[in-house]
Amino acid sequence: MKPSLVILTGAGISAESGLGTFRDADGVWSKFDWRQLATPEGFANDPVAVHGFYNARRQGLVAAAPHAAHTALAELETGWRASGGDFLLVTQNIDDLHERAGSRALIHMHGELFKARCGACGTVTDCRTDLSIADACTACGREGRMRPHVVWFGEIPLGMEEIFPALETATHFAAIGTSGTVWPAAGFAEAAKIAGARTWELSLEAGEGGHFFDVTDYGPASETVPRWARTMMDEIRA
Ligand code: APR
Repeated sequence: MKPSLVILTGAGISAESGLGTFRDADGVWSKFDWRQLATPEGFANDPVAVHGFYNARRQGLVAAAPHAAHTALAELETGWRASGGDFLLVTQNIDDLHERAGSRALIHMHGELFKARCGACGTVTDCRTDLSIADACTACGREGRMRPHVVWFGEIPLGMEEIFPALETATHFAAIGTSGTVWPAAGFAEAAKIAGARTWELSLEAGEGGHFFDVTDYGPASETVPRWARTMMDEIRA
């Protein structure tokens, strides 16, 4: 059977880069109301507030940098593929730290902070600066319809047509820095387990769905992920 590694990352992998997680004690959703800021209804009610929230996060991301865990996953991708394995990195994060570290086979299932989308024609464009309700779409010219290219609560995650087939053939699966509370990502460990994969959880503490993990390692991602990536390389070379 061809070795096939699927990795799911969440906010915890970017915590040591200075980006806040969502559900830890001082998490983003302890300070802000996701109903107002991360739903289509919230955007319809108060687009200025929603733009302000994501503009601040975009500015924070400009100043952030990847750390040892992001780098370890990029190197693991190269090594794992060179040894003949299939590799897919799925992130719930809207930051671009995996790309900056060198990851290539990557799906942003919750969208990307450095992209904007026109709510009228659907065109996705790069977005490195603040968005506002006055912005016009560069493709269709409509004003006032630009939104962050992120998946809000109640919207359909991206890339599922690629993610679920990869989970069905996975031989190895790891969830890194995610609380496992948001679906459908919360179901990935179970899907991989049903497919016969060995499963790992790397996080600060146990998330939901712990019984689907064969191995757990709780600690900062900058320490656990490079260590785990070395064991994965030992495994595929054996
Ligand atoms: N190293 C490893 N894990 C960490 C670290 C760290 N330094 N710091 C925190 N964690 C862990 C926490 O223990 C927690 O289990 O990361 C996890 C973060 O969980 P959440 O804040 O719930 O983030 P996530 O699982 O990515 O959230 C999923 O919810 O609102 C949304 O769309 C948003 O993509 C996000 C989704």
